[in-house]
Formats: sequence, structure tokens, C-alpha cells
Amino acid sequence: MLTSFPSELEAVVVGAEGGIGRALVDRLHADPAVVRVHGFGRRTVPAIELADEASIAAAAATVQEPRLVIVATGMLHGQGRGPEKRLADLDPATLAQAFAVNAIGPALVLKHFAPQLPREGKAVLAVLTARVGSISDNRSGGWYGYRAAKAAANQLVRTAAIEIGARRPNAICVALHPGTVDTALSAPFQRNVPEGKLFTPDFAAERLLAVIDGLTTADSGGFFAWDGEAIPY
Ligand SMILES: NC(=O)c1ccc[n+]([C@@H]2O[C@H](COP(=O)([O-])OP(=O)(O)OC[C@H]3O[C@@H](n4cnc5c(N)ncnc54)[C@H](OP(=O)(O)O)[C@@H]3O)[C@@H](O)[C@H]2O)c1
Repeated sequence: MLTSFPSELEAVVVGAEGGIGRALVDRLHADPAVVRVHGFGRRTVPAIELADEASIAAAAATVQEPRLVIVATGMLHGQGRGPEKRLADLDPATLAQAFAVNAIGPALVLKHFAPQLPREGKAVLAVLTARVGSISDNRSGGWYGYRAAKAAANQLVRTAAIEIGARRPNAICVALHPGTVDTALSAPFQRNVPEGKLFTPDFAAERLLAVIDGLTTADSGGFFAWDGEAIPY
């Protein structure tokens, strides 16, 4: 149960039809501290399609003063294409798609939902990125587009955190890594995951909400893993 927010918490999950997004919605619905959960996906009403800014603005306009906004959208492999292993694999359209979904879309969600946050009391904007978006932690290479787009998302989150904090000192804006989770996104890449390291979506959702509950304003702009570890950019 979320205990660090003022009562009557309204929560928003963008990407509510994804593996982790659905689990977050279920956990939030079951939480007595949460009075309302707004889940937006490409097939909800209203819908959010990240490539359509008007759909993001229209969805944001249906929500009043959410204290928790989680962006759980993302894309690792495009249709018919795996993540790039080599420079020779780079394709401009695929790279642009990776950035559109993983960086630009989440930034537009911040743009339209940040002004809706309450001015008083704890509020959190959390964007799911990925540990592979850490530039300093990149030792194995590969996955060019996904890595770079997640690094861009981390930078967008940090920049937004600085701006949002100036107007709403109690608001916290962070990037979160959910761990390796058994969803459609990771399905083709699960073979090499060590025993016990492939999480269920429900476990990841429970851990992410626990991390969110523990965040303070000193954490805003940070990048945190499912276990609360601060990940270097
Ligand atoms: N699973 C992992 O192991 C893992 C590891 C590290 C980070 N993450 C991150 O965690 C987040 C959630 O991933 P997941 O594992 O839950 O993946 P998922 O099951 O594939 O869910 C991703 C969601 O993003 C939505 N989406 C993609 N493009 C969109 C667009 N243009 N407009 C609106 N929605 C769009 C998808 O919508 P549709 O259902 O309509 O396609 C889907 O609901 C992602 O940011 C991912 O990068 C996951």
C-alpha cells in the first residue's frame, strides 16, 4: 500500500495495456490509498497514441490533479526487425521509431500531465526507461536505438525534473528500471536471463510502487532500479 502520498490519491498509467502497465493498474486498483486509476493505452477510451500529441493532450484533460503518473509505454524491437547489434544494422526509420516511442512520446506525456499535478503535497511522475539506457553502464554494446532512446528519455526526465521542481517543490520526476520482466517486449530475449532474474509483471509492479512510495524530493531527476538502487546515468 502506498503510504507516503496525501490521501485521495488519483493515479495515471500510460501504457496501461502493456505487460507492466496492466500489472501497475491492477496493483493500484487494489490499493486502498488510491481512489481512482486512469489507465490509458492505444485501445482505451480516451486512447493515447504517443505519435499523436493531440491524443495525449485530450487524455490529460480528462484527469484532475493526479498525484502519481507512470509512463509504462516502450518499444524494443520494431516489426520484423530485432534490435541492432552492429552499426551496419542501423536503419534511419527504425532509429526514428525507437526515439519516437521511447523518448519523444514520454516527454510529451510529461508536457501534458505535469501541469495537472497538485501544487501541494507529494506527487510523482515516473517514466519507465531501462538500465541499458545508462551510458556509463554500457559495457556490452548493441541495441543501438533502444539504448540511445532510453538514454535520451533519462535526460528528458532529468531536465523536466529541474523545471517541474521550480514550480512544484513537492513534485518528484524520475526514471525507473523495472528489471527484466516477462512481457511481450522481452519475450524474444529471455533465453540468457539468469535463473530467478526474470520477474513476473506483478512482482515488477509491486517493486516499482514500493520504490515510488519511498521517493523524496531529494530523489527527483534520478534513475532508480526496481530494488531502489540508484543507477548512474
Ligand atoms: N520487460 C522488460 O524486461 C523491461 C526491461 C527494462 C525496461 N522495460 C521498460 O518497461 C516499459 C514497459 O515495458 P513492458 O515490458 O510492459 O512492454 P510491453 O508489454 O510491450 O508494453 C509496452 C506498451 O507500450 C505501448 N506502446 C508502444 N508504442 C506505443 C505508442 N506509439 N503509443 C502508445 N502506446 C505505445 C504498447 O501498446 P500496444 O499494446 O498497443 O502495442 C504496450 O502497451 C517500457 O518502457 C520498457 O522499455 C521493460
